[in-house]
Amino acid sequence: MPSLNQALRAALAARRDLLTDLHAQGTDCYRLFHGSQEGEPGLTLDRYGPQLLVQSFHQPLDQARLPELEAIVAEFLGDKLLLVYNDRSGGNSRIDRSATSHRADAEALDDLVGHEWGLNYRVRGRHAGQDPLLFLDLRNARGWVKANSAGRSVLNLFAYTCGVGLCAAAGGAREVWNLDFAEGNLAVGRENAALNPDLAPMRFIQSDYFPAIRQLAGLPISRRHGQRLPSYPHLDERRFDLVFLDPPAWAKSAFGTVDLLRDYQSLLKPALLATADDGVLVCCNNLAKVPLAEWRDQVLRCAAKQGRTAREWEVLAPAADFPSQDGKPPLKTLVLRF
Ligand SMILES: C[S@@+](CC[C@H](N)C(=O)[O-])C[C@H]1O[C@@H](n2cnc3c(N)ncnc32)[C@H](O)[C@@H]1O
Repeated sequence: MPSLNQALRAALAARRDLLTDLHAQGTDCYRLFHGSQEGEPGLTLDRYGPQLLVQSFHQPLDQARLPELEAIVAEFLGDKLLLVYNDRSGGNSRIDRSATSHRADAEALDDLVGHEWGLNYRVRGRHAGQDPLLFLDLRNARGWVKANSAGRSVLNLFAYTCGVGLCAAAGGAREVWNLDFAEGNLAVGRENAALNPDLAPMRFIQSDYFPAIRQLAGLPISRRHGQRLPSYPHLDERRFDLVFLDPPAWAKSAFGTVDLLRDYQSLLKPALLATADDGVLVCCNNLAKVPLAEWRDQVLRCAAKQGRTAREWEVLAPAADFPSQDGKPPLKTLVLRF
């Protein structure tokens, strides 16, 4: 597979300066090969600290090629990483857990630690979920949070493994809440907190987004089609200085539907109401088919309609390890200052 090897070598060469900067700032988690933009759609290579994670999304990779890729990365980094290959080309991006899938060394599948912005993160090559435990394209946004949280109360919505919360705590936030409905994800968030014992404690709230944000925003929780709702934790109405809203593309629960394509407003409106009058809202949309300018205008209009016209706004782009030939990376992050 000489062309893949060549493409990987070119991708690594293009990252030389970036990786020097990242290593200097205490980061050893980054994308080494972003196949969709660098010559092999459906294939990614990521470094997570001591681990090299190869993922295929469109078709399985000929596993005989893995040692070549591993050797090229080792030569470039001057360091041999622990290889994990996860084929996710089956339905719904599920990791192939069949007998034919790549058997990583036990050491590679151990609980490992990676670093970003000087913080420690749990790295686990295979776990109950599909995605790695840290989304690498959000690194710049996490760095922004770390640099802008001092003295603030921070609400991290759809917190997953709480990387944004960790950055807020490391940046000197006076209070950090992480909210997610998946206890397994929050459990990793707690592990991440334990891996950074010098940080102030954070709060973890296991709740569906809709009842939680509506209570914080002081809005009623309505029944859908007259159905009885599952129970949810009680929260008092309150506002936060910094609210971070990074929802999945689509998710349905008894309380509502998260749908970034058709209905961003339902997520945004209550999040705006839970943001302090002079606060900051950071919101994300990772759907490639949603153009930045269109989504930004929609967000700004929605805020203005709620009487929350942004004083200024700023777009945070992913770093150069997520190149995009058309200048339109799927992950869009918008900072609104009120
Ligand atoms: C794409 S991840 C968010 C990434 C995260 N913001 C980060 O910094 O890595 C989506 C998360 O949303 C959570 N989630 C999905 N629907 C939800 C809902 N209705 N209420 C609460 N959490 C939800 C999932 O459990 C998952 O952890």
